[in-house]
Amino acid sequence: MPLDIVVGAQWGDEGKGRMVDLLAAEADFVARYGGGDNAGHTVTVGDQIFKLHLIPSGVIQPNTVGVLGNGMLVNPSTLMAEMAQLREAGIDLPPKRLRISHAAHLITPAHVALDAAQEGARGAEQIGTTKRGIGPAYVAKAARRGLRVEMMLNPEDFADAVETRVEEANKHLTQLYGADALDPKTVATEFMDYARQLKPYIVDASQLLTDALNSGKRVLAEGAQGTLLDLDHGTYPYVTSSSPTAAGALLGLGIGIRPANRIVGVTKAFQTRVGEGAFPTELSGKVAKHLRGTGANPWDEFGTTTGRPRRVGWIDLVLLRYACRQNTLTEVALTKLDILSGIDPLKICIAYRIGDETFTELPLGPADLSQFEPVYEELPGWDVDVTAARHWDDLPPQAQKYVQRIEDAAGMPVRWISVGPERDQVIIRD
Ligand code: GDP
Ligand code: IMO
Ligand code: MG
Repeated sequence: MPLDIVVGAQWGDEGKGRMVDLLAAEADFVARYGGGDNAGHTVTVGDQIFKLHLIPSGVIQPNTVGVLGNGMLVNPSTLMAEMAQLREAGIDLPPKRLRISHAAHLITPAHVALDAAQEGARGAEQIGTTKRGIGPAYVAKAARRGLRVEMMLNPEDFADAVETRVEEANKHLTQLYGADALDPKTVATEFMDYARQLKPYIVDASQLLTDALNSGKRVLAEGAQGTLLDLDHGTYPYVTSSSPTAAGALLGLGIGIRPANRIVGVTKAFQTRVGEGAFPTELSGKVAKHLRGTGANPWDEFGTTTGRPRRVGWIDLVLLRYACRQNTLTEVALTKLDILSGIDPLKICIAYRIGDETFTELPLGPADLSQFEPVYEELPGWDVDVTAARHWDDLPPQAQKYVQRIEDAAGMPVRWISVGPERDQVIIRD
């Protein structure tokens, strides 16, 4: 079955965009299945750096069709801006190259305003959302008060629906949060314009992808966010409101329960997190500075969507094993190995401890990680630059050992080792 799924194995920003771009060279369709413009996926091709929030990263490869699946939330303003940016960079996306599921939901400025107002009201219990309206829009979907993409096909009713939903949101904004109300008519007029422009892109994406798979076409499902941000399986409540894990791909694309060929879990060679929530292996000080960088390099650890500095730490193999199980991964892609050059010794978290008790698996899922103290194993570091490595043998023995230790703990092969953001900066192992 020619379906491959790429998922984040950590808290997002693992380098999924970079890996999807690589794998999309072999794909016919590349489909995002969840989340919205809270995602920020970076693809580097020579001196061009693409930062994609909604459009699948796979569209940078010229022979693909990008699909926005039913599990997604589409902010049409972001989408139009992203299409324009890509056009300027020479990538035109007419409807034959980009399709939007009729059953995806829309994000309006009312959802965005609610997200900000709710975060403000949470005080010390803030989640640290990206303030893109994700939570409120999925709430509206579950409450059956969402705006589905297909509603744009019927302009008169659509305008009425947008207006009503904004009026409803205004009550919450003003009465619950003391925030400003939005003008429902202005939003409706803006959305009528989006409807006119996006109409040719709307399809039954479930049918499109099912037909594609049945006729032997290759579909690559592009995960956003990461396993530990999954609404059910992540570090609840410090999660997003969608299902980034591999099972989410089947539901979020409407392709039934279909066995995937490859399920690739992308993990950095260390751990990062943006937003609130426990992070057992978090570091501060010199090593943290090394891992994060200063912001001078495009790959330094500052959020692609929000610009926030990312929290950084040692790789957590308890959580990686959990991601392997949750996603039934078939293999791992390890990114940013190059960043570890110059840190000696390196530490990897192999277990957790509470008092005298040691756990190599999570006893009750990852919701409350704050109770655990990490158990580390030390490994020797390496000093040489590995960004030019293209084969396993090009890596210093310490780096090989580090990768092998991750393979042992994960119980599965590290098939790709990324040593830089560029397309060719990767070691592919058989
Ligand atoms: P995503 O959300 O999972 O797609 O990841 P992001 O794009 O948000 O963040 C990953 C960052 O790391 C981007 O700036 C990538 O260009 C960069 N990157 C990916 N792989 C590597 C790598 O192996 N080495 C370095 N130095 N940067 C990388
Ligand atoms: P990509 O696809 C990293 C985090 C936010 C916050 C939590 C909830 O680039 O890996 P939300 O706005 O979704 O309600 O925020 O989830 N978050 C991400 N962190 N990468 C992402 O996407 C993320 N998308 C959401 O920082 O902690
Ligand atoms: Mg990202």
